Amino acid sequence: MRNSVLALATVVALAAAGATSAAEAGGDAAAGRVIAARYCAACHEIPGLDGRAAPAPLTPPAFAAIAAHPETYTRARLERFLRAPHFPMKTLVLSRHDIANLIAFIESLRAP
Ligand code: HEC
Repeated sequence: MRNSVLALATVVALAAAGATSAAEAGGDAAAGRVIAARYCAACHEIPGLDGRAAPAPLTPPAFAAIAAHPETYTRARLERFLRAPHFPMKTLVLSRHDIANLIAFIESLRAP
């Protein structure tokens, strides 16, 4: 009896821990879409957002291409990259919250 209570407590604790880390890692894709529409679509092709590629010689990757290559565009790489403004956007500074939401949005573009 005592053992099964302990086991149950462990399962509940693990489930709670899993939920917490998922919530921290996973941003809000809908909120990320709003930011992308406002700040990213001028240079990046984004499905459903009338995004267009910036003129040459700039070569911003399409968001769908970023989403399709998680082995290249790892979450850590995206987080690091988006923490600093990128050329030629010199002034846009994103909060950690915005970055998490943007990454959730980009990941939502991944084909199933
Ligand atoms: C003024 C044009 C411009 C805007 C606006 C812009 N980008 Fe970019 N982005 C670029 C260019 C050019 C590159 C490719 C060159 C580079 O890597 O710096 C790029 C590259 C990237 C990459 C690939 C990074 C990598 O690791 O190679 C990501 C991710 C990205 N942009 C996300 C965003 C997000 C999110 C926004 C909106 C908050 C945004 N960009 C807005 C021009 C832009």
